[in-house]
Amino acid sequence: MKVSGAKNSALVVMAGALLCKSECRLRNIPGLVDVDKMCQIIEALGVKIQRNDDVLDFDMTGFNCHTPPFELVSKLRAAFFAIGPILARLGVAKVPLPGGCSIGARPVELHVRGLQAMGAHVEIAHGIVNAYVTGVNKRLQGAKIYLDYPSVGATETLMMAATLADGETILENAAKEPEVVDLANFCISIGAKITGAGTDRIVIVGVQELHATEYSIISDRVEAATFLVAGAITNSEITVFPAISSHLAAAVAKLEQIGARIAIDSPDRMRTIPTGILRGTDIETLPYPAFPTDMQAQFMALLAVSEGSSVITETVFENRLQHVAELKRMGANIKVKGNHAIVEGVLALSGATVTATDLRASAALVIAGLA
Ligand code: EPZ
Repeated sequence: MKVSGAKNSALVVMAGALLCKSECRLRNIPGLVDVDKMCQIIEALGVKIQRNDDVLDFDMTGFNCHTPPFELVSKLRAAFFAIGPILARLGVAKVPLPGGCSIGARPVELHVRGLQAMGAHVEIAHGIVNAYVTGVNKRLQGAKIYLDYPSVGATETLMMAATLADGETILENAAKEPEVVDLANFCISIGAKITGAGTDRIVIVGVQELHATEYSIISDRVEAATFLVAGAITNSEITVFPAISSHLAAAVAKLEQIGARIAIDSPDRMRTIPTGILRGTDIETLPYPAFPTDMQAQFMALLAVSEGSSVITETVFENRLQHVAELKRMGANIKVKGNHAIVEGVLALSGATVTATDLRASAALVIAGLA
């Protein structure tokens, strides 16, 4: 199975492209509705985008608008992260609060507090986050910021804002996800001075200007893991390529605990080997490098037909167990207690009409349907 570019890299690196003074080219961009929406939002800011298959060419020369359109941003959470680059480039940004979605309220106070620490004045009124920088050159100031939670989005927003700030910014308790590292590598490729990405302490030294680049984003670890789970649940051999095995360590460890065998044929090629055994195990979602919340629903489908009982604990989002009701329609035996799902494996699921609540839950239901 061919794995596309990572959705959660593409969306944030597209926002990062706003930092470039003139132009930039992004490769390995996946064909997704969310990518289309992000293109529309960025074009509404005055940027021209040419798209050829998985390549996006950005012409920044017309970038002059600080207010992405409400109706587009409220449907795409990742668009909120653009507040960092817009504020860094224009000194003002008026971005709608991202609506909550089915998995949770999705607050942004960590983003806002960090921007305030960097000298931005931020007011939230009528659902719009209104941020602006005063002072002669309207530049953000470097700051030492401690994130109460290793939020992926807050780390990304603040990293992007800091690339053009005056002085040094330190992000403590930063997120370590591969998509954060990918964004940092993109920013470095346009001239940003960033060290520590992938650790919980990222240091950014602001520069005056950021230049053009041609950058290819990483492959999607969630998509890769989803294919591996599909192989395990159908007891079939599936090759997944390109897959960065180090990004999938937690998922592969869980798959092997359950009884699947995963061959790593080369640094970017993995394969499921049928074993016919599926045993229950426990899963707790936590920030990277622990087991990712974006793979929780898919693994629940697998555990629903694995022998014995499993406890799945979702600690990242407050409402990301909605696929339980849908899997139960298919005959799964699952009880929810707080943020725990207790799964008793059944011999087989049965086809049913089910509802997709969020992206990863949808993938879980497809996997359950395959079995
Ligand atoms: C990113 O969302 C991903 N989205 C999510 O993927 C992923 O599940 C999540 O990181 C965790 O890995 C994109 O990258 C576009 P967070 P993000 O900030 O940045 C709370 C998918 O299916 N929080 O790390 O929004 C928040 O409510 C999506 O591809 C605050 O309380 O995640 C959540 O409970 C789903 N205040 C927790 O932190 C804040 O200011 C983790 O959120 C920010 C976050």
